[in-house]
Amino acid sequence: MEEINIRTLVRLYPNLMELPKDIRELFEAAAEARAKAYAPYSNFQVGAALRLASGKIITGSNQENASFPSGLCAERTAVFYAGAQYPTENIIAMAITVKSLNQTVDTPISPCGACRQSLLEYEVKQGQNIPIYFRGETGKIAQVSAVQELLPFAFSGKLL
Ligand code: THU
Repeated sequence: MEEINIRTLVRLYPNLMELPKDIRELFEAAAEARAKAYAPYSNFQVGAALRLASGKIITGSNQENASFPSGLCAERTAVFYAGAQYPTENIIAMAITVKSLNQTVDTPISPCGACRQSLLEYEVKQGQNIPIYFRGETGKIAQVSAVQELLPFAFSGKLL
């Protein structure tokens, strides 16, 4: 019997001022996107912003639906748009922020499992890690250096 111990390194920044300028900009874009969320059912608004190699910023917000599973998370809205519009450009970083209309969220909120799987696809496709930064509405910012850090032992298309 063998054991595999999987570890994830998460870096915590106390506030936005501790981040590099380009990541602070991404958080500004993510907060603007968050304000455009359509989340009448959960009251949980999510904004995501990613930067392409060209420097261009692409954003997305969660878009809910009366038929709940038909809605889409902010991260996938953003990454699918990037994949559809700029299929040859690498994604170099992503920032995610949330706001609940029911309570103050002051802890980092990480992407859901489906978003991790979707984001991983683009990381594998481009052969370059995508650092992910995530926070609540306020408080500390968490960072992982790659999507695969959030989704160890992932299913990939290698055998397909
Ligand atoms: N949501 C996201 O946009 N991203 C995530 O990673 C988790 C959840 C959205 C989906 C739904 O509109 C609301 O947050 C509550 O689940």
